[in-house]
Amino acid sequence: MKKIFGLVLAFALISGGLVFAGGAADGEAAAAGDDLIVVGYAQVGAESDWRTANTESFRSTFVPENGYRLIFDDAQQKQENQIKAIRSFIQQDVDYIVVAPVVETGWETVLGEAKAAGIPVILSDRQMKLSDESLYLCWVGGDFLKEGRDSVTWLNNYLAEIGRADEPINVVLLQGTIGSSAQVGRTQGITEGLAENPNYTLLAAQTGEFTQAKGQEVMESFLKAYDDIDVVFAENDNMAFGAIDAIKAAGKVPGEDIIIISFDAVREAFNRIIAGELNCAVECNPLHGPRVDEIIKTLEAGGTVEKIQYVQEGLFDITNAEELLPTRAY
Ligand code: AHR
Repeated sequence: MKKIFGLVLAFALISGGLVFAGGAADGEAAAAGDDLIVVGYAQVGAESDWRTANTESFRSTFVPENGYRLIFDDAQQKQENQIKAIRSFIQQDVDYIVVAPVVETGWETVLGEAKAAGIPVILSDRQMKLSDESLYLCWVGGDFLKEGRDSVTWLNNYLAEIGRADEPINVVLLQGTIGSSAQVGRTQGITEGLAENPNYTLLAAQTGEFTQAKGQEVMESFLKAYDDIDVVFAENDNMAFGAIDAIKAAGKVPGEDIIIISFDAVREAFNRIIAGELNCAVECNPLHGPRVDEIIKTLEAGGTVEKIQYVQEGLFDITNAEELLPTRAY
């Protein structure tokens, strides 16, 4: 294992970017494979197809042929497990810690420990709310608030297109893990967007924990409580797949009787759109392995990186799903 940084970590902010002092000289040896850069990845879990694709993206990028040794930890959607993983990475004296935080808050202590040990922390996918922004080096991921807003804009346009723009519309919301930035941003974007249109009524919102089984269970309870649901927002594809099963079991036609909008846009979502069961999937791109690799390589070469790095994302429905399906890698 190679230790890039001394005991005192020098974070220097240079013209809007960040640079780590002292790391550049070790890059070549690592690339030669005899002195690998050790990266600990504290992953959320394996709750969704998106997460599986994200894990695969890291596992296939952080390989010895690319100059890395990856220590991977699956926290099973529990913050306490991620905190344990980060402490273990610190003990193992890794070169970089990468975290996809389960929830936004409660990280100051453990990130303070990483900082004291001189180990830079890169956030990926979800964000943290921290009192001290210097506790992490940078973040790369999707813009969850924008995703939420885009989903309501899509609904507005779709209802206009099918001649229902002036009808009262009843909405239910399947939320992700409460307190995760994916849930917080999407929920905010959706609820603010819905509030702008007096035709929309949000009947209920409940977490489905980003899993298919829980999404199905919660949708079943929504269908029992309300017989007049027009629209479901599911804060990820897998909860939408669960909702589709629940809607079918209730004798309704998903995509027709109830409009379904989801987030992620994994390959299976394209199949469901083409089958007419899902109306819209807002993209959340999981392929962060190469992005984090680029950040580390830039730092190793003595370069600077932007603190906040948003990924470009699209939106898919029946107008483009068939054409784009062959290009979906996950
Ligand atoms: O943080 C990204 C979200 O986490 C994805 O939308 C979801 O599928 C995953 O579990």
